[in-house]
Amino acid sequence: MSLSLMDYEVFKRKLKDTIGLDLNHYKQQQMQRRINQWLDRVGAANYGEYIKTLQSDSEERGRFTEYLTINTSQFYRDVTVFKEIETKVLPDLVKRYHRLKVWSAGCSTGPEIYTIAMLLEEISPGRRHTLLGTDFDVGALAKAKEAVYTENLLNSLPAKYKDKHFTKEGQLWKLSDNIKRLVRFERQNLLEDPFDRGFHLILCRNVFIYFTPETQMFLTKKFSESLIPGGIFIVGSAENLMEPEVANLKRVSYCIYQRE
Ligand SMILES: C[S@@+](CC[C@H](N)C(=O)[O-])C[C@H]1O[C@@H](n2cnc3c(N)ncnc32)[C@H](O)[C@@H]1O
Repeated sequence: MSLSLMDYEVFKRKLKDTIGLDLNHYKQQQMQRRINQWLDRVGAANYGEYIKTLQSDSEERGRFTEYLTINTSQFYRDVTVFKEIETKVLPDLVKRYHRLKVWSAGCSTGPEIYTIAMLLEEISPGRRHTLLGTDFDVGALAKAKEAVYTENLLNSLPAKYKDKHFTKEGQLWKLSDNIKRLVRFERQNLLEDPFDRGFHLILCRNVFIYFTPETQMFLTKKFSESLIPGGIFIVGSAENLMEPEVANLKRVSYCIYQRE
């Protein structure tokens, strides 16, 4: 198989036209290794041949996009962080602002924003908050709207939330309509589409790790501008921001930041 660096540059340009994702914003080594593994798996001879497949086969485009965007997620993912969100961040925001506007950017199949919905239901029962989940991958968003999950996605979720909001159907766990209806999902490419404003809380967790440092900084500034002053920005546990003050953010806890 011929997979030279030059072929890869052409592949990236054509891929942007085909699926709409600009791989120049993603860490090159990691992304190229992943793509090469996929080409091996599907038996494509080279980048040129595979681009033609993607151009002509919409199902393959869906499968490839799902593989490329890495949709791993979990309810109450990272127990330490979510404990802090549950006991400090949300109670404080609810006290200060009453009705919250919350955004999970790169929400995948929905566990993160649904976790926030359950926590808010506990803290402020019946209160109408605005909860938004966005992602690039339409396949992930379809699963988010369906909200039926395998058990392993619920492993970290405290039992009281699982008992209250899920019913078991065969091997799967179905989220209650009461929680589902609190969240709106939309397709969005963080690299190109406009950001809404006026959020009290933005979570963009386990998404930054795939981006180059320049893109991380570019997005951090945009997220910060989308927060109200005093609003909170939360990244993944392994995604410490290098210079949060450049984006008017100060660290309040180890992956939790506040807009000044
Ligand atoms: C590993 S998942 C993280 C899910 C969730 N935030 C969590 O921490 O459990 C990363 C998500 O980022 C999304 N993503 C990657 N690049 C994106 C982009 N340019 N615009 C929007 N979403 C993107 C992927 O589709 C994927 O669903």
